[in-house]
Formats: sequence, structure tokens, C-alpha cells
Amino acid sequence: MTDVHSHASEIDPPSDEDVQRLIQAAISARDHAYAPHSHFYVGAALLTHDGRIVEGCNVENASYSLTQCAERTAVCSAVAGGYRMFHAVAIASIGGAMPCGACRQVLAEFGSDLYVYTIDVIDGDQQMRRLSELLPDAFSTSDIPKR
Ligand code: THU
Repeated sequence: MTDVHSHASEIDPPSDEDVQRLIQAAISARDHAYAPHSHFYVGAALLTHDGRIVEGCNVENASYSLTQCAERTAVCSAVAGGYRMFHAVAIASIGGAMPCGACRQVLAEFGSDLYVYTIDVIDGDQQMRRLSELLPDAFSTSDIPKR
């Protein structure tokens, strides 16, 4: 980008090869989903800036509100493993659901430039969004006044 107005949201998408790798990882992470209450199985995979993939799945609880979504499991696993810079996330489910609002906020903690891919495991349909489209005007650390 030579445009003087170019900024972080103009980060290029991952290569087709990385997107396919990421989607396959989300599909296989879904095999580990623990969803005995909803039976809605979700897999997620984060692509780090250095090309690594970190997976997550939903982990439900009998006390329903304690359920952890697949995307947040992946974020926690990545951060615990020392990774905080993400290029993309893929989310696999029946119907290709978009991330819930809570997951959008948690993903935005690490940057709104993220590429978000969803995959419908039934018909293979793939969608791509930027996190900034899914959560415009995200609340962030810059909203917290300095003391
Ligand atoms: N779920 C996810 O894993 N990610 C989302 O973004 C939406 C919802 C899970 C949570 C719960 O285990 C099941 O889907 C039904 O809500």
C-alpha cells in the first residue's frame, strides 16, 4: 500500500493455503466439542502472525451460563501458550454460525483487523468477514481513562 492513508485494517488476508489449513483445523477441533446440553458442536482455530494454528472447541456446563464458546477457548489456549498476535480465526459449525457477541469482544481485545472465516460443515459454505465489520466501534482499552 502506498496510500498515505493506509492503516492496519489494510493487512492482507492469509494465503488461500493458510485459510484452508485453518478451516481444516477448525473442523477437526469441532470433534472435541463438549456440548451435551445444546448438541451444537463448534470448532475454532486461530492463525497466529507467525503461521501457527491454535484450536478451541465449545465446552458446555450443566450450569449453562458457564459455557465457554469455541472461539474463547481458542483465545485462552493461544494466550496461555504465549501467542497474542492473530491474523485470522476460522469457526466450524452446522450452518456456519458467526461468532457470538461475547466472542467478538474477546477477539477484539487482540485486534479488530482479524479475518473471520466461518464454515458450514454440512454444505462446505465459507464466509469471510473482518472483525471490525462484526463489531464496529468495539470497546477497547483506549476507552478506559488513564489515571
Ligand atoms: N457457541 C460457540 O461455541 N461459539 C459461538 O460463537 C456461538 C455459540 C456455542 C456455545 C454453546 O455451547 C453452543 O454453541 C450453543 O449456544
